[in-house]
Amino acid sequence: MTDAADLPALINLDDLAREAARRLPTPALDYYRSGARDESTLQDNRAAFGRWRLRPRVLVDVSQRDPATTVLGQPVRLPLLVAPTAFQSMAWPQGELATARACARAGTVMTLSTLSTWPMEAVVEAWRGAGGPENGGAIWFQLYVYKDRDLCRALVERAHAAGCRALVVTVDAPILGTRERDVRNRFRLPDSLNIADLLDAAGMAGEAVRRGSPTGSQLADFVYQVLDPALTWADIAWLRSISPLPIVLKGVLRADDARRAVDVGCAGILVSNHGGRQLDGAIAALDALPEVVAAVDGQAEVYMDGGLRRGTDLLKALALGAQAAFIGRPMVWGLSVAGEAGVTHVLGLLRAELDEAMALCGCPTVADIGPDLLCR
Ligand code: FNR
Ligand code: LAC
Repeated sequence: MTDAADLPALINLDDLAREAARRLPTPALDYYRSGARDESTLQDNRAAFGRWRLRPRVLVDVSQRDPATTVLGQPVRLPLLVAPTAFQSMAWPQGELATARACARAGTVMTLSTLSTWPMEAVVEAWRGAGGPENGGAIWFQLYVYKDRDLCRALVERAHAAGCRALVVTVDAPILGTRERDVRNRFRLPDSLNIADLLDAAGMAGEAVRRGSPTGSQLADFVYQVLDPALTWADIAWLRSISPLPIVLKGVLRADDARRAVDVGCAGILVSNHGGRQLDGAIAALDALPEVVAAVDGQAEVYMDGGLRRGTDLLKALALGAQAAFIGRPMVWGLSVAGEAGVTHVLGLLRAELDEAMALCGCPTVADIGPDLLCR
Protein backbone atom coordinates (compact mmCIF):
# COMPACT_ATOMS: atom_id res chain seq x y z
CA MET A 1 0.00 0.00 0.00
CA THR A 2 1.18 3.48 -0.76
CA ASP A 3 1.17 5.97 2.08
CA ALA A 4 -1.67 7.99 0.58
CA ALA A 5 -3.78 4.82 0.29
CA ASP A 6 -3.68 4.52 4.09
CA LEU A 7 -5.31 7.91 4.57
CA PRO A 8 -9.05 7.10 4.30
CA ALA A 9 -8.76 4.77 7.29
CA LEU A 10 -7.37 7.64 9.39
CA ILE A 11 -10.60 9.46 10.19
CA ASN A 12 -9.45 11.98 12.77
CA LEU A 13 -6.31 13.76 13.90
CA ASP A 14 -5.66 11.30 16.74
CA ASP A 15 -5.53 8.49 14.15
CA LEU A 16 -2.94 10.47 12.20
CA ALA A 17 -0.89 11.12 15.34
CA ARG A 18 -0.83 7.40 16.13
CA GLU A 19 0.13 6.48 12.58
CA ALA A 20 2.90 9.09 12.52
CA ALA A 21 4.23 7.70 15.82
CA ARG A 22 4.48 4.26 14.20
CA ARG A 23 6.52 5.61 11.31
CA LEU A 24 8.90 8.20 12.74
CA PRO A 25 12.30 7.43 14.30
CA THR A 26 12.20 8.13 18.04
CA PRO A 27 14.35 11.30 18.12
CA ALA A 28 12.22 12.96 15.43
CA LEU A 29 8.95 11.82 16.99
CA ASP A 30 10.03 13.02 20.42
CA TYR A 31 11.15 16.37 19.03
CA TYR A 32 7.80 16.91 17.35
CA ARG A 33 5.55 15.76 20.16
CA SER A 34 7.39 17.11 23.18
CA GLY A 35 6.37 19.92 25.46
CA ALA A 36 8.65 21.61 27.96
CA ARG A 37 9.50 19.95 31.30
CA ASP A 38 6.39 18.26 32.83
CA GLU A 39 4.34 19.02 29.70
CA SER A 40 1.53 20.42 31.86
CA THR A 41 0.92 23.33 29.47
CA LEU A 42 0.98 20.95 26.51
CA GLN A 43 -1.87 18.99 28.12
CA ASP A 44 -3.75 22.06 29.30
CA ASN A 45 -3.83 23.56 25.79
CA ARG A 46 -5.96 20.60 24.79
CA ALA A 47 -8.01 20.50 28.01
CA ALA A 48 -8.92 24.20 27.72
CA PHE A 49 -11.20 23.47 24.77
CA GLY A 50 -13.14 20.99 26.91
CA ARG A 51 -13.84 23.68 29.50
CA TRP A 52 -16.28 25.35 27.07
CA ARG A 53 -19.66 23.89 26.10
CA LEU A 54 -21.66 24.85 23.03
CA ARG A 55 -25.11 26.48 22.98
CA PRO A 56 -26.36 25.68 19.46
CA ARG A 57 -28.97 27.81 17.69
CA VAL A 58 -31.87 25.96 16.03
CA LEU A 59 -34.07 26.66 13.02
CA VAL A 60 -31.45 28.53 11.06
CA ASP A 61 -31.21 27.76 7.35
CA VAL A 62 -27.83 26.04 7.15
CA SER A 63 -28.34 24.45 3.73
CA GLN A 64 -25.51 26.63 2.36
CA ARG A 65 -22.40 26.96 4.47
CA ASP A 66 -19.15 28.83 3.84
CA PRO A 67 -16.09 28.77 6.12
CA ALA A 68 -14.19 31.38 4.07
CA THR A 69 -12.73 34.47 5.75
CA THR A 70 -9.81 36.89 5.44
CA VAL A 71 -6.58 37.27 7.38
CA LEU A 72 -4.68 40.57 7.13
CA GLY A 73 -7.02 41.39 4.29
CA GLN A 74 -6.04 38.26 2.34
CA PRO A 75 -8.82 35.80 1.47
CA VAL A 76 -8.54 32.26 2.86
CA ARG A 77 -10.93 29.39 2.19
CA LEU A 78 -11.10 28.45 5.84
CA PRO A 79 -10.18 30.10 9.15
CA LEU A 80 -7.51 27.46 9.84
CA LEU A 81 -3.89 28.36 9.12
CA VAL A 82 -0.69 26.35 9.39
CA ALA A 83 1.72 27.32 12.20
CA PRO A 84 5.48 27.38 11.69
CA THR A 85 7.21 24.14 12.62
CA ALA A 86 10.92 23.60 12.19
CA PHE A 87 12.79 20.85 10.33
CA GLN A 88 9.96 19.38 8.27
CA SER A 89 12.26 17.20 6.15
CA MET A 90 12.74 14.97 9.20
CA ALA A 91 9.08 14.05 8.70
CA TRP A 92 9.09 13.74 4.91
CA PRO A 93 11.90 14.34 2.38
CA GLN A 94 10.06 17.11 0.54
CA GLY A 95 9.29 18.71 3.91
CA GLU A 96 8.25 22.36 3.64
CA LEU A 97 7.71 22.04 -0.14
CA ALA A 98 5.00 19.42 0.45
CA THR A 99 3.36 21.52 3.16
CA ALA A 100 3.34 24.56 0.89
CA ARG A 101 1.67 22.63 -1.92
CA ALA A 102 -1.04 21.29 0.40
CA CYS A 103 -1.71 24.79 1.79
CA ALA A 104 -1.88 26.20 -1.74
CA ARG A 105 -4.47 23.63 -2.76
CA ALA A 106 -6.50 24.23 0.42
CA GLY A 107 -6.38 28.01 -0.06
CA THR A 108 -4.91 28.75 3.35
CA VAL A 109 -1.82 30.33 4.88
CA MET A 110 1.37 28.40 5.52
CA THR A 111 3.70 30.02 8.02
CA LEU A 112 7.24 29.06 7.07
CA SER A 113 9.66 28.59 9.98
CA THR A 114 13.02 30.36 10.01
CA LEU A 115 14.33 26.86 10.70
CA SER A 116 13.13 25.46 7.38
CA THR A 117 15.04 22.64 5.74
CA TRP A 118 14.26 24.11 2.30
CA PRO A 119 15.12 27.66 1.13
CA MET A 120 12.23 30.08 1.37
CA GLU A 121 12.36 30.90 -2.36
CA ALA A 122 11.82 27.23 -3.22
CA VAL A 123 8.92 27.00 -0.76
CA VAL A 124 7.16 30.02 -2.26
CA GLU A 125 7.78 28.60 -5.74
CA ALA A 126 6.20 25.26 -4.72
CA TRP A 127 3.20 27.17 -3.31
CA ARG A 128 2.82 29.13 -6.57
CA GLY A 129 3.18 26.00 -8.69
CA ALA A 130 0.35 24.30 -6.76
CA GLY A 131 -2.13 27.12 -7.43
CA GLY A 132 -1.64 29.23 -4.30
CA PRO A 133 -2.18 32.59 -5.99
CA GLU A 134 -5.48 31.44 -7.51
CA ASN A 135 -6.82 29.67 -4.40
CA GLY A 136 -6.15 32.37 -1.82
CA GLY A 137 -3.95 32.07 1.21
CA ALA A 138 -0.28 33.01 1.30
CA ILE A 139 3.10 32.13 2.68
CA TRP A 140 3.92 34.07 5.85
CA PHE A 141 7.53 34.03 7.09
CA GLN A 142 8.18 33.26 10.75
CA LEU A 143 11.16 35.20 12.04
CA TYR A 144 13.45 34.47 14.92
CA VAL A 145 15.47 37.61 15.59
CA TYR A 146 19.20 36.94 15.47
CA LYS A 147 21.88 38.65 17.53
CA ASP A 148 23.39 39.44 14.13
CA ARG A 149 21.01 42.16 12.96
CA ASP A 150 22.53 42.22 9.45
CA LEU A 151 21.64 38.54 9.06
CA CYS A 152 18.18 39.30 10.40
CA ARG A 153 17.69 42.20 7.98
CA ALA A 154 18.87 40.06 5.07
CA LEU A 155 16.34 37.35 5.96
CA VAL A 156 13.52 39.89 6.20
CA GLU A 157 14.46 41.41 2.83
CA ARG A 158 14.66 37.97 1.24
CA ALA A 159 11.23 37.04 2.62
CA HIS A 160 9.72 40.15 1.08
CA ALA A 161 11.48 39.64 -2.25
CA ALA A 162 10.44 35.98 -2.35
CA GLY A 163 6.78 36.93 -2.03
CA CYS A 164 6.00 36.15 1.62
CA ARG A 165 3.07 38.29 2.74
CA ALA A 166 3.68 38.80 6.47
CA LEU A 167 6.37 38.49 9.14
CA VAL A 168 5.38 36.32 12.08
CA VAL A 169 7.82 37.37 14.79
CA THR A 170 8.12 34.77 17.53
CA VAL A 171 8.74 36.39 20.91
CA ASP A 172 8.29 33.54 23.39
CA ALA A 173 11.70 31.99 22.79
CA PRO A 174 14.51 34.22 24.16
CA ILE A 175 15.98 30.84 25.08
CA LEU A 176 14.63 27.42 24.22
CA GLY A 177 12.39 25.74 26.80
CA THR A 178 13.80 22.40 27.88
CA ARG A 179 12.16 19.39 26.27
CA GLU A 180 13.54 16.64 28.42
CA ARG A 181 13.09 13.95 25.79
CA ASP A 182 15.37 15.92 23.48
CA VAL A 183 17.99 16.08 26.22
CA ARG A 184 17.79 12.32 26.79
CA ASN A 185 17.97 11.67 23.03
CA ARG A 186 20.75 14.26 22.59
CA PHE A 187 18.57 15.62 19.80
CA ARG A 188 20.39 16.91 16.72
CA LEU A 189 19.44 17.63 13.14
CA PRO A 190 20.39 14.64 10.96
CA ASP A 191 23.65 15.31 9.04
CA SER A 192 21.83 15.14 5.71
CA LEU A 193 19.65 18.15 6.59
CA ASN A 194 20.40 21.84 6.98
CA ILE A 195 18.76 25.01 8.19
CA ALA A 196 18.54 26.10 4.58
CA ASP A 197 18.14 29.84 5.06
CA LEU A 198 20.84 30.13 7.72
CA LEU A 199 23.79 28.09 6.65
CA ASP A 200 26.40 30.34 8.25
CA ALA A 201 24.59 30.58 11.54
CA ALA A 202 23.98 26.84 11.51
CA GLY A 203 27.70 26.34 10.99
CA MET A 204 28.35 28.45 14.07
CA ALA A 205 26.03 26.30 16.11
CA GLY A 206 27.73 23.21 14.74
CA GLU A 207 30.98 24.57 16.18
CA ALA A 208 29.34 25.03 19.56
CA VAL A 209 28.15 21.45 19.53
CA ARG A 210 31.56 20.05 18.58
CA ARG A 211 32.96 21.87 21.62
CA GLY A 212 30.55 19.82 23.73
CA SER A 213 26.85 20.45 24.09
CA PRO A 214 26.04 22.49 27.19
CA THR A 215 22.32 21.73 27.10
CA GLY A 216 22.19 18.21 25.65
CA SER A 217 20.04 19.37 22.70
CA GLN A 218 21.72 20.68 19.56
CA LEU A 219 18.72 22.88 18.88
CA ALA A 220 18.87 24.46 22.33
CA ASP A 221 22.60 25.13 21.80
CA PHE A 222 21.85 26.74 18.47
CA VAL A 223 19.24 28.99 20.02
CA TYR A 224 21.63 30.07 22.81
CA GLN A 225 24.29 30.76 20.23
CA VAL A 226 22.43 32.81 17.64
CA LEU A 227 19.05 34.06 18.89
CA ASP A 228 18.91 37.32 20.79
CA PRO A 229 17.65 37.07 24.38
CA ALA A 230 17.97 40.88 24.64
CA LEU A 231 15.07 41.40 22.23
CA THR A 232 12.64 44.16 23.32
CA TRP A 233 9.76 46.23 21.99
CA ALA A 234 12.24 48.62 20.38
CA ASP A 235 13.34 45.80 18.09
CA ILE A 236 9.78 45.28 16.90
CA ALA A 237 9.69 48.97 16.00
CA TRP A 238 13.01 48.45 14.17
CA LEU A 239 11.55 45.54 12.19
CA ARG A 240 8.61 47.75 11.25
CA SER A 241 11.05 50.36 9.99
CA ILE A 242 13.02 47.99 7.75
CA SER A 243 10.13 46.09 6.13
CA PRO A 244 6.80 46.95 4.55
CA LEU A 245 5.42 43.52 5.51
CA PRO A 246 2.71 43.44 8.20
CA ILE A 247 3.93 42.02 11.51
CA VAL A 248 2.15 39.32 13.48
CA LEU A 249 3.54 38.96 17.01
CA LYS A 250 3.58 35.28 17.98
CA GLY A 251 3.63 34.15 21.58
CA VAL A 252 1.58 36.79 23.41
CA LEU A 253 -0.44 35.61 26.47
CA ARG A 254 -1.34 38.85 28.30
CA ALA A 255 -3.56 41.88 27.73
CA ASP A 256 -0.81 44.42 28.52
CA ASP A 257 1.59 42.86 26.01
CA ALA A 258 -1.18 42.78 23.42
CA ARG A 259 -1.78 46.52 23.92
CA ARG A 260 1.91 47.23 23.46
CA ALA A 261 1.91 45.14 20.29
CA VAL A 262 -0.88 47.33 18.92
CA ASP A 263 0.99 50.45 20.02
CA VAL A 264 4.16 49.45 18.12
CA GLY A 265 2.07 48.82 15.02
CA CYS A 266 1.62 45.06 14.84
CA ALA A 267 -1.15 44.04 12.45
CA GLY A 268 -1.82 40.74 14.16
CA ILE A 269 -1.31 39.00 17.51
CA LEU A 270 -0.97 35.25 17.75
CA VAL A 271 -1.98 34.10 21.23
CA SER A 272 0.27 31.11 21.77
CA ASN A 273 2.47 29.33 24.28
CA HIS A 274 4.43 27.65 21.48
CA GLY A 275 2.44 24.45 21.78
CA GLY A 276 3.54 24.05 25.42
CA ARG A 277 7.19 23.86 24.36
CA GLN A 278 8.57 26.94 26.11
CA LEU A 279 7.39 27.86 29.64
CA ASP A 280 5.79 24.86 31.30
CA GLY A 281 3.01 26.06 33.57
CA ALA A 282 2.08 28.89 31.19
CA ILE A 283 -1.64 29.55 30.77
CA ALA A 284 -3.43 27.54 28.07
CA ALA A 285 -3.60 29.51 24.83
CA LEU A 286 -7.41 29.34 24.63
CA ASP A 287 -7.67 30.64 28.21
CA ALA A 288 -5.52 33.66 27.33
CA LEU A 289 -7.50 34.48 24.19
CA PRO A 290 -10.43 36.45 25.72
CA GLU A 291 -8.28 38.97 27.60
CA VAL A 292 -6.18 39.61 24.50
CA VAL A 293 -9.25 40.05 22.30
CA ALA A 294 -10.69 42.52 24.80
CA ALA A 295 -7.45 44.48 25.11
CA VAL A 296 -6.88 44.73 21.37
CA ASP A 297 -10.44 45.93 20.85
CA GLY A 298 -10.44 45.43 17.09
CA GLN A 299 -7.23 47.39 16.45
CA ALA A 300 -5.38 44.31 15.19
CA GLU A 301 -6.38 40.79 14.24
CA VAL A 302 -6.07 38.17 16.96
CA TYR A 303 -5.31 34.51 16.27
CA MET A 304 -4.54 31.55 18.53
CA ASP A 305 -2.75 28.22 18.40
CA GLY A 306 -2.19 25.30 20.75
CA GLY A 307 -4.13 22.10 21.27
CA LEU A 308 -6.65 22.52 18.46
CA ARG A 309 -7.59 19.02 17.26
CA ARG A 310 -11.31 19.20 16.33
CA GLY A 311 -13.62 21.32 14.21
CA THR A 312 -15.52 22.27 17.37
CA ASP A 313 -12.20 23.51 18.86
CA LEU A 314 -11.80 25.81 15.87
CA LEU A 315 -15.37 27.03 16.25
CA LYS A 316 -14.76 27.75 19.96
CA ALA A 317 -11.63 29.77 19.17
CA LEU A 318 -13.57 31.83 16.62
CA ALA A 319 -16.44 32.28 19.09
CA LEU A 320 -13.96 33.73 21.62
CA GLY A 321 -12.86 36.33 19.09
CA ALA A 322 -10.03 34.79 17.07
CA GLN A 323 -10.01 35.78 13.41
CA ALA A 324 -8.46 32.39 12.65
CA ALA A 325 -6.54 29.64 14.45
CA PHE A 326 -3.43 27.63 13.61
CA ILE A 327 -2.35 24.00 13.87
CA GLY A 328 1.23 22.86 14.48
CA ARG A 329 1.68 19.18 15.30
CA PRO A 330 -1.34 17.82 13.39
CA MET A 331 0.17 19.17 10.18
CA VAL A 332 3.45 17.44 11.04
CA TRP A 333 1.62 14.14 11.62
CA GLY A 334 -0.04 14.40 8.21
CA LEU A 335 3.29 15.17 6.59
CA SER A 336 4.93 12.20 8.34
CA VAL A 337 2.29 9.76 7.12
CA ALA A 338 1.92 10.81 3.49
CA GLY A 339 3.69 14.08 2.65
CA GLU A 340 1.57 16.57 0.72
CA ALA A 341 -1.42 14.18 0.61
CA GLY A 342 -1.21 13.77 4.39
CA VAL A 343 -1.29 17.53 5.02
CA THR A 344 -4.17 17.84 2.57
CA HIS A 345 -5.95 15.10 4.51
CA VAL A 346 -5.47 16.90 7.84
CA LEU A 347 -6.79 20.19 6.44
CA GLY A 348 -9.71 18.33 4.83
CA LEU A 349 -10.65 16.57 8.08
CA LEU A 350 -10.70 19.82 10.03
CA ARG A 351 -12.58 21.55 7.23
CA ALA A 352 -15.27 18.83 7.32
CA GLU A 353 -15.45 18.90 11.12
CA LEU A 354 -15.80 22.69 11.13
CA ASP A 355 -18.54 22.44 8.51
CA GLU A 356 -20.42 19.95 10.69
CA ALA A 357 -20.01 22.16 13.76
CA MET A 358 -21.23 25.23 11.87
CA ALA A 359 -24.29 23.35 10.59
CA LEU A 360 -25.17 22.00 14.03
CA CYS A 361 -24.63 25.37 15.75
CA GLY A 362 -26.79 27.28 13.27
CA CYS A 363 -23.91 29.20 11.68
CA PRO A 364 -23.93 29.39 7.86
CA THR A 365 -20.86 31.68 7.81
CA VAL A 366 -17.96 32.45 10.14
CA ALA A 367 -19.55 35.87 10.79
CA ASP A 368 -22.36 33.99 12.56
CA ILE A 369 -19.94 32.46 15.07
CA GLY A 370 -20.01 34.53 18.26
CA PRO A 371 -19.56 34.31 22.03
CA ASP A 372 -23.29 33.57 22.56
CA LEU A 373 -22.53 30.02 21.36
CA LEU A 374 -20.41 29.28 24.43
CA CYS A 375 -20.86 28.63 28.13
CA ARG A 376 -18.63 27.10 30.79
C1 FNR B 1 6.92 24.46 16.75
N1 FNR B 1 6.62 25.80 16.92
C2 FNR B 1 7.40 26.76 16.31
N2 FNR B 1 7.09 28.07 16.43
C3 FNR B 1 7.86 29.01 15.81
O1 FNR B 1 7.55 30.19 15.92
N3 FNR B 1 8.94 28.64 15.06
C4 FNR B 1 9.31 27.36 14.91
O2 FNR B 1 10.28 27.05 14.21
C5 FNR B 1 8.54 26.36 15.57
N4 FNR B 1 8.89 25.04 15.49
C6 FNR B 1 8.09 24.09 16.03
C7 FNR B 1 8.40 22.76 15.86
C8 FNR B 1 7.56 21.77 16.35
C9 FNR B 1 7.89 20.34 16.12
C10 FNR B 1 6.38 22.13 17.06
C11 FNR B 1 5.43 21.09 17.59
C12 FNR B 1 6.08 23.46 17.25
C13 FNR B 1 5.36 26.20 17.60
C14 FNR B 1 4.19 26.19 16.62
O3 FNR B 1 4.30 27.24 15.69
C15 FNR B 1 2.83 26.33 17.31
O4 FNR B 1 2.85 27.44 18.17
C16 FNR B 1 2.38 25.08 18.10
O5 FNR B 1 2.80 23.90 17.46
C17 FNR B 1 0.86 25.07 18.27
O6 FNR B 1 0.45 24.00 19.05
P1 FNR B 1 -0.11 22.59 18.47
O7 FNR B 1 -1.06 22.91 17.32
O8 FNR B 1 1.10 21.83 18.03
O9 FNR B 1 -0.80 22.01 19.65
C1 LAC C 1 10.75 24.56 18.59
C2 LAC C 1 11.42 25.79 18.05
C3 LAC C 1 12.36 25.56 16.98
O1 LAC C 1 9.67 24.70 19.17
O2 LAC C 1 10.50 26.78 17.75
O3 LAC C 1 11.33 23.45 18.49
